[in-house]
Amino acid sequence: MLNGFGRSPLGHRALGPTPVPTRPPGGVGAESPEPAAAPPPPPPPKAKAKEPEALAKADPAVAQFEAIKRRIHGKLVDRLDFNRVNELDPRTVRAEVRAVIEHLLDEDDPMLNKAERQRLVDEILDETFGLGPLEALLKEEGIGDIMINGPRHVFIEKKGRIERSVINFRDDDHLLQIIDRIVSRVGRRIDESSPMVDARLPDGSRVNAIIPPLALDGPVLTIRMFGSKPLSQDDLLRFKAFTPEMLMLMEASMKARLNIVISGGTGSGKTTLLNTLSSFIQNDHRIITIEDAAELRLQQEHVVRLETRPPNVEGRGAVTATDLVKNALRMRPDRIIIGECRGAETLDMIQAMNTGHEGSMTTVHANNPRDAMSRLETMISMAGLELPIRALRAQFASAVDLIIQANRLQGGPRKVTSITEVVGMEGDTIIMQEIFKFEQLGVDPNGRAHGRFVATGIRPTFMERLEASGCLLPHDLFRQRVLLED
Ligand SMILES: Nc1ncnc2c1ncn2[C@@H]1O[C@H](COP(=O)(O)OP(=O)(O)O)[C@@H](O)[C@H]1O
Ligand SMILES: [Mg+2]
Repeated sequence: MLNGFGRSPLGHRALGPTPVPTRPPGGVGAESPEPAAAPPPPPPPKAKAKEPEALAKADPAVAQFEAIKRRIHGKLVDRLDFNRVNELDPRTVRAEVRAVIEHLLDEDDPMLNKAERQRLVDEILDETFGLGPLEALLKEEGIGDIMINGPRHVFIEKKGRIERSVINFRDDDHLLQIIDRIVSRVGRRIDESSPMVDARLPDGSRVNAIIPPLALDGPVLTIRMFGSKPLSQDDLLRFKAFTPEMLMLMEASMKARLNIVISGGTGSGKTTLLNTLSSFIQNDHRIITIEDAAELRLQQEHVVRLETRPPNVEGRGAVTATDLVKNALRMRPDRIIIGECRGAETLDMIQAMNTGHEGSMTTVHANNPRDAMSRLETMISMAGLELPIRALRAQFASAVDLIIQANRLQGGPRKVTSITEVVGMEGDTIIMQEIFKFEQLGVDPNGRAHGRFVATGIRPTFMERLEASGCLLPHDLFRQRVLLED
């Protein structure tokens, strides 16, 4: 596989045990010829963050390091027969290529200490087997989203703010090749006949790609980073996403098996909340999760994770959320968690909530609690299920106990802006009452929204249920007052 590799003094090392974690074959840095894309194995979670590429421009030492890296990488590319590389077991390949890089470094002999040398080898391996220019961003900490609008317009979101990244792709083809590498890894494809695709990186980050002719200015890739650590309860309290009082109510509601809908727009923090709240589920409950692209990370032992599947090239073999909910009901679940209700599965979810799977949860795209209920209604009617609207609402009203509204406010902060109880029906109307809310009062000089969390003074009607299951809340928890300003 490697030209002249057999003569390499390091050749024998390539045959030794290979503790090196695998990366998919493919991707090369922008400077070098591309190997053919290959069906890659799932790589391990990313290593610790290293220098972002931006630093290379500022610091001469970094620039020198990058120059050595390019030089060695160039030599490596001359030596590798990438067609053969793609045919071999990736673990072996990586170990062999590592040995070749070590050998090239011995020949070149740049002045590097041991740690630098190690880093250099690792980075060259990443460039050779990883996702090209994207690797630097994937390694950088604190990025929430990566948005690539064609090869020359790369944006990242950090702490709620969007900024332009220095990273570029060579051209449309280069970017397309990286996209192809990502989606083919999860058995999907992208081309003119199927120009939109959802996929997932091995670490759980969600990926969407849309390419010409639908996207007018080149391939567009959007990555919602999973984050190496999901935000914890303490993080969310520290960020003032909600107050301790609100958390107490949410915790008790989870423990007492209320059915909960988390509502919010894209990126408002719904999944994060779902993850956090799920930590309150009893350890002996059997939980089944259903998602389009698995991103929940439940801490419990007894979890079954299911993921939907899009149709294949011939348009067959799709497995929908509805199919999975129906199947889940036969799996003796204590609770069902649907990552996001988008369509017909909503009805199955509601029915499950009404028939002994209390403590189930889902998220829905909506701007406020009332909107959330009508979104659920719309999804069912769009799915062609002809149910009298009143009957439908009555089902909702009895199924859903609590709606937690998440919002991404101006300037970036994400907050729970409402915790609302669904009380029941009066005539044709679903009755709700807000227990806690966030009132936005204005915007500070940096463009960041500020306001205050408030207890409305209303006691939820499900207090008895909470108490019956042993969740005793402080008497004055619901007393009308301002809880916290932010
Ligand atoms: N309260 C918060 N404060 C800061 N960042 C948050 C908060 N909640 C979520 N995030 C971050 O925002 C991004 C989007 O969150 P996510 O839960 O995936 O949103 P959604 O499911 O609504 O699309 C993630 O990177 C997440 O870590
Ligand atoms: Mg989500």
